[in-house]
Amino acid sequence: MTEIEAIKKRHSVRNYTDRKIEQEKADRLNELIAGCNEEGNLHLQFCSDAGNTYNKLLSKAMGLGSAPSVIACVGPDDDTVEERIGYYGQKIVLFAQQLGLNTCWAGTFNKKEIPAEVKSGEKVVISIAIGYGETQGKERKSKRIDQVTSGNNPDWFNYGVEMALLAPTAINQQSFEIKLEPDGKVTFTDKGGPFSKVDLGIVKYNFKVGVDYFKNNN
Ligand SMILES: Cc1cc2nc3c(=O)[nH]c(=O)nc-3n(C[C@H](O)[C@H](O)[C@H](O)COP(=O)(O)O)c2cc1C
Repeated sequence: MTEIEAIKKRHSVRNYTDRKIEQEKADRLNELIAGCNEEGNLHLQFCSDAGNTYNKLLSKAMGLGSAPSVIACVGPDDDTVEERIGYYGQKIVLFAQQLGLNTCWAGTFNKKEIPAEVKSGEKVVISIAIGYGETQGKERKSKRIDQVTSGNNPDWFNYGVEMALLAPTAINQQSFEIKLEPDGKVTFTDKGGPFSKVDLGIVKYNFKVGVDYFKNNN
């Protein structure tokens, strides 16, 4: 499965079976995570046993049942950490999909219970539930390209936006704009809302995968 196929197949999955993630897949996830941590100056951690990260009461309210494992999204407490976590977290989410796993970004979880190492000067930003889903999730509503861009744009750009619109965002808010500036630069605007900075990083990653694919195949 390519990353583009993973973008198209991925949906948030909120109910998981008890099946444990095999050691071989855990090793591959850990290898990718180590690279992301180095490149993005982050401290993302795969926790094979999610413990009490997803408490039943919280979960009922948010629809997320349980998950056997979790990726703790930890990083230094700086101004851009949320966006970096979104960007690299989405890279990991798509890789998980390629490994046959399912995921759900989850802002609602027991921060105190997540079994992660948080060093001084770091914070836990968000969690990603991961495991074998009971289902593969389902398609949801999406904004149209013209609702997040303006003007007439080239095909490579539109393809990137199409992939960005398949990105998960908190409460499906899709609260962003993507613009192709006259000088050829692409700018992303965060229009606010819960976890919108994390969303922006996620959206940037999907956009990049789309544009790279388009340019390599046209
Ligand atoms: C930053 C962020 C936080 C999220 N928090 C939660 C959450 O707390 N509980 C939940 O059930 N889903 C959560 N989601 C999942 C979104 O609801 C979901 O991505 C969105 O509805 C789009 O659906 P899709 O992921 O299937 O494309 C979150 C997603 C993102 C990106």
